[in-house]
Amino acid sequence: MILAIETSCDETSVAVVRDGAILSNVVSSQIALHAEYGGVVPELAAREHLKNFPSVARTALVEAGISAANLDAVAATQGPGLPTALLVGFKAAQAMAFALRKPFIGINHHEAHLYSPWIGDFAAFEPNVSLIVSGGHTILARVDSELNHHVLGSTLDDAAGECFDKTGKLIGLPYPAGPEIDKLAEQGDPKAFDFPRPLINDPGDDFSFSGLKTSVRYFLRDNPDLLSDPKKVRDLCAGIQTAIVDVLVTKTIRAARRTGMRCVTASGGVTCNRALRRELEKACKRNGFALRLADQKYCTDNAAMIGILAERKLSAGAAITRLDAEIEPGMAL
Ligand code: KG4
Ligand code: ZN
Repeated sequence: MILAIETSCDETSVAVVRDGAILSNVVSSQIALHAEYGGVVPELAAREHLKNFPSVARTALVEAGISAANLDAVAATQGPGLPTALLVGFKAAQAMAFALRKPFIGINHHEAHLYSPWIGDFAAFEPNVSLIVSGGHTILARVDSELNHHVLGSTLDDAAGECFDKTGKLIGLPYPAGPEIDKLAEQGDPKAFDFPRPLINDPGDDFSFSGLKTSVRYFLRDNPDLLSDPKKVRDLCAGIQTAIVDVLVTKTIRAARRTGMRCVTASGGVTCNRALRRELEKACKRNGFALRLADQKYCTDNAAMIGILAERKLSAGAAITRLDAEIEPGMAL
């Protein structure tokens, strides 16, 4: 029985897992708080975690039907993430482990995303090429076996989610703009406006999205009246989304072909995007690859994925983390 805590960004989440099953996964989102500022304000996020943590943890224990005394271990995100936000969950977890005299395990947030497509079905695990797409990161990794992976490429500048959020801000959409663009794009013409697809023909596995953002900025500067026409806004959203999805899908499939993998997985907040899910499905089908997408509820940040990875690491004999270990805001995958 493991209690897991995730506070790396703007979601306060606590989960209880046992034998691969998720007994509870409580997520308290701060999106409304940060929307006013157009992005996550680290200091506010940390204060909000402090405020919400006790009730989120209590609810997670109640929903799991256990008390803290039943726990066998405590886990928390160690990095990467916002330093002050990480500190809240990581130190709370260490304090709990100390008080309960149970092992503590610090978890890499990206590694938790990487294995989240297999939650509930690790028996079906197969080697894969994995795309992690969130607000802070865009990573392609090769996963040779469980808990054995390495990074093929990552973004050189903005992450895919950041590109959704920043271009959406230029259009005047509320933060986070990713889900808004997703909605509007569904009724737009993806061919009406053509935007660059950075590094799409580059043989490497790195991404770059800042040029796309800049090209949307210049496009709006040169077409200032466009934003008053709802149809054109929908077309614009479809154009931006198609450019991002095109790059993500093309590079993921190319990496899978090159590495000889027969399975593709995807996780992270942007994996909620309907066009991305659809296009990955089509491309994998065309190439004869199995596709495994993280369940929608485990795409955005959550403690269940932290708990499941901690459980698998503990049962694989991984070293437990010292109670005086520190957070690692820049932790690499
Ligand atoms: O994984 P996540 O919850 O947090 C980070 O670790 O960053 O991802 C949040 C990101 C935001 O940039 C948000 O705009 C994006 O995921 N996102 C989406 C959609 N839902 C969330 N982007 C495009 N389409 C969506 N439906
Ligand atoms: Zn994340």
